[in-house]
Amino acid sequence: MTQPLAERIAAEIAASGPISVADFMARCLGDPQDGYYMTRVPFGADGDFTTAPEVSQLFGELIGAWLIATWEAAGAPSPVRLVELGPGRGTLAADILRVAALRPAFLDALTVELVETSPVLRQTQKTTLEASPRPLTWHDQVEDLPDGPMLVVANEFFDALPVHQFVRAQDAWRERVVGLDENGRLAFGIGPGALPEAMTAGFADAPDGAVLEVQPVADAIMETLAGRIARQGGALLTIDYGYVRPGIGDTLQALRAHTHVDALADPGAADLTTHVNFAALGAAARRGGAAVHGPVTQGAFLLALGLVERAHKLAAGSDAAGFRAIEADVARLAAVDQMGELFKVMAVTPDTLLAPGFGRL
Ligand SMILES: C[S@@+](CC[C@H](N)C(=O)[O-])C[C@H]1O[C@@H](n2cnc3c(N)ncnc32)[C@H](O)[C@@H]1O
Repeated sequence: MTQPLAERIAAEIAASGPISVADFMARCLGDPQDGYYMTRVPFGADGDFTTAPEVSQLFGELIGAWLIATWEAAGAPSPVRLVELGPGRGTLAADILRVAALRPAFLDALTVELVETSPVLRQTQKTTLEASPRPLTWHDQVEDLPDGPMLVVANEFFDALPVHQFVRAQDAWRERVVGLDENGRLAFGIGPGALPEAMTAGFADAPDGAVLEVQPVADAIMETLAGRIARQGGALLTIDYGYVRPGIGDTLQALRAHTHVDALADPGAADLTTHVNFAALGAAARRGGAAVHGPVTQGAFLLALGLVERAHKLAAGSDAAGFRAIEADVARLAAVDQMGELFKVMAVTPDTLLAPGFGRL
């Protein structure tokens, strides 16, 4: 029986020194034995958090409609790969495939490619997608995706990737690390590594203690996919909580049973995320040679795609309680004080393709 993750991380730090916040996140989420995503299905009221596809089928249905419209705008390539990054329980993919069946030529063109590292979640996805009308293939990483035009969807995927944090200290940005305190417990500290000056432009006046976050893993995945889309066709749609302009701030958060907890308290037992830097993600997509649409807020995007109209159709024939439940789901997805404003939507296409839902079609 191997030691619990907290003890293994502490032993490594005692032997080799503090680790970066990014390494800590990667260990907590992806450790093969105890990593958060490796050991559980964390979604829903009984879990740690609820994502948009788990709120209502309306979300996945509208994403499905977006994919059909974008596929048609791209000249209806066939075959085309429907790729989902981090599919969770498989709910979004199932809702997309249900809508895809309304356009048989689209459905027939699809192969479904799921990029998922968690064996537990792969099993759940297999069950959810048991009746999939199209073949399913799982991949460990985006580099393994087969060639060809692809339509990529990523909901709350980029926020789960490791982020480096740098703390302003005496005119330099020093890397925030996880080390051990005098009692041998995990504690944040400041390491010797510094952020290259080129990456700190615009933050010269930041006060001591300010935090800058850098997301090289997310940016590299985006650049790879954007390059593929620019060369081989298709589109990418990503939805996540995040910020539009580069900024300072510590956005690392740990969530357990829908409550914020100490990120260092119990490695592997809580979800660790950061807010996505959409400016950096957009820049990565442009480096890959693709065009970027948005980001716009999730509320604006879903309303532009017909959220209210679709909700009315779904509610037809419901009793008063059913109607109120759908109304509450619409508010949860689109209201500014719920998911509507914090969550952003960004699309990536080859230069020539317009993307519905971003204010120009
Ligand atoms: C926050 S969940 C979102 C799940 C789903 N998209 C939803 O909206 O319900 C993050 C998902 O990404 C997966 N994941 C995390 N890191 C990953 C990585 N490096 N590569 C592939 N999948 C990853 C997790 O296992 C999980 O399925």
